[in-house]
Amino acid sequence: MTKSAVKVLCIVGARPNFMKIAPLMRVFNKQDSGIDARLLHTGQHYDAAMKASFFDQLDIPEPDVDLGVGSGSHAVQTSEIMARFEPELDAWNPHLVLVVGDVNSTIACALVAVKKGIAVVHVEAGLRSFDRDMPEEINRVLTDQISSLLFLTEKNAEDNLAREGINLDNVYFVGNVMIDTLLMNRQKAIPAEQTLQKFGDFPGQVDSAEGFGLVTLHRPSNVDDPVTLKRLLETIVEVSRTVPVVFPVHPRTRHRIDESGLGDLLSGGRVLVSPPLGYLELLGLMDSARVVLTDSGGIQEETTALGVPCITMRENTERPITVTEGTNTIVGSDPVRIMNAFRDVIETGGKAGRIPALWDGRAAERIASSILKWAEG
Ligand code: UD1
Repeated sequence: MTKSAVKVLCIVGARPNFMKIAPLMRVFNKQDSGIDARLLHTGQHYDAAMKASFFDQLDIPEPDVDLGVGSGSHAVQTSEIMARFEPELDAWNPHLVLVVGDVNSTIACALVAVKKGIAVVHVEAGLRSFDRDMPEEINRVLTDQISSLLFLTEKNAEDNLAREGINLDNVYFVGNVMIDTLLMNRQKAIPAEQTLQKFGDFPGQVDSAEGFGLVTLHRPSNVDDPVTLKRLLETIVEVSRTVPVVFPVHPRTRHRIDESGLGDLLSGGRVLVSPPLGYLELLGLMDSARVVLTDSGGIQEETTALGVPCITMRENTERPITVTEGTNTIVGSDPVRIMNAFRDVIETGGKAGRIPALWDGRAAERIASSILKWAEG
């Protein structure tokens, strides 16, 4: 690394960050990239299923620093990250702190950096669900306000930033780093049959010609209220009567199911329940699924890139391009709307969709060149 390299401290914290940081670290760590990058993990997600398998499968270098914060309320988690991050920032004193996405680690580290006069780079800026009940929406709005360089996955996100008074001179539409990771790993994905077998295959009578559906569910608005959660689990069972379903259960959802004693509900259908899966397992399942039902942000984009129909069990999306150009349909958490959208996919094959502009596997390269230009100017 040359003396004049730009020092960039890259932050990850939670599962959806890992696939976004992987291509950036790869590009930054190339010889003569002009960027001296270090990786800091806040420890927001810590167990093997939520962290270690992603680092291994995506070839992310071991973090230079792990703050080990773990779980807690939003206030505890965010403040704990801030307090532990500050001395690490002082110790290395980078030119830039780079944050991705919209999790608590994103806003916590951005806030510490900006108050120390260190410029913040936000990757995946400008997305808005316009739903301030979502903790992620608060994190997005605040992080964008204090960032000096903002990188967009979809062009229309610029309008959101303009409306919020952000100087568009520092905003660059570069494409989607998560899709960089998807394209790089698609050939390496673990075949769906292998993953299904590993977890004991679908219960009940299943003909392989039926294909399968994939479900993920973890938003507080869907899983924290037992009435809503029960309704959604019943809907998953209903879906499984037409197409068997694989359901990797997020830790938050697992806790809520256990707390409310709803575990037995799922055994009423053809639902294969598994622990959270690694990236390559999930990618293999997504790529072969007939339909994906989810409340995840990232999966809406990944299914669009793969051309697989996606039914989003949320009232809104911060990623509108997945609806206007991709394969995504937003239905909320009402069972009738979910089932209607599901039947439509089964009857028609679902929306065809097209790949959004610049979702071409080169977003991380574009980000690296913009960072170098910023540093020169
Ligand atoms: C967080 C992000 C959300 C993201 C999601 C993906 C915020 C505000 N939310 O939500 O945007 O979509 O991650 O997973 O940052 N847990 C474990 N093991 C772990 C991590 C968490 O068991 O490795 C448990 C925690 O103890 C907690 C629950 O899972 O009970 C939720 O974890 P938390 O990080 O608080 O939020 P998520 O719901 O995962």
